Amino acid sequence: MKKRTPCSAILMLVVALSASADESLPNDEQQVVMDKELQFLVKECSACHGENGVSTNDEVPSLAGKSADYILENVEKFYFYERHCPDAEYQNGEPKSGARNMCDVADRMTRQEVMAVGAWFEAQTPPATD
Ligand code: HEC
Repeated sequence: MKKRTPCSAILMLVVALSASADESLPNDEQQVVMDKELQFLVKECSACHGENGVSTNDEVPSLAGKSADYILENVEKFYFYERHCPDAEYQNGEPKSGARNMCDVADRMTRQEVMAVGAWFEAQTPPATD
């Protein structure tokens, strides 16, 4: 009995860790997103979502004025294939990563990066008709 307790404690920890990993993108609480990286991400998203996150393409929603929490929630949906990832036409340059859709985008981001770029888009003026 004495031997079993630590074992089951470890098992519970593993279960807890994998459960939390399932709920979120890779989460590195130590990560600080520097301005240079933020600017890179803004460009990346703006290639499809339009300059400053204002889209002129009906198939791509604007990000300007949407909350960082909403943006994170939806990027996680793409990450877990809870939303479909249609390929998009670029409308503002080309993303450096060559991403074609939101699954490509979500696959390579951390939670901290999405929150940082999400806060940037939240601060932009939304289009009048969106
Ligand atoms: C290759 C083009 C492309 C790139 C690059 C891209 N997106 Fe998207 N994004 C899309 C498309 C297309 C949709 C709409 C998908 C659909 O039909 O539901 C979308 C949808 C979204 C949504 C859901 C918005 C809503 O209101 O439903 C969020 C949030 C989002 N993208 C965030 C981002 C962020 C953050 C970045 C940059 C890190 C990014 N996207 C880069 C193409 C792109």
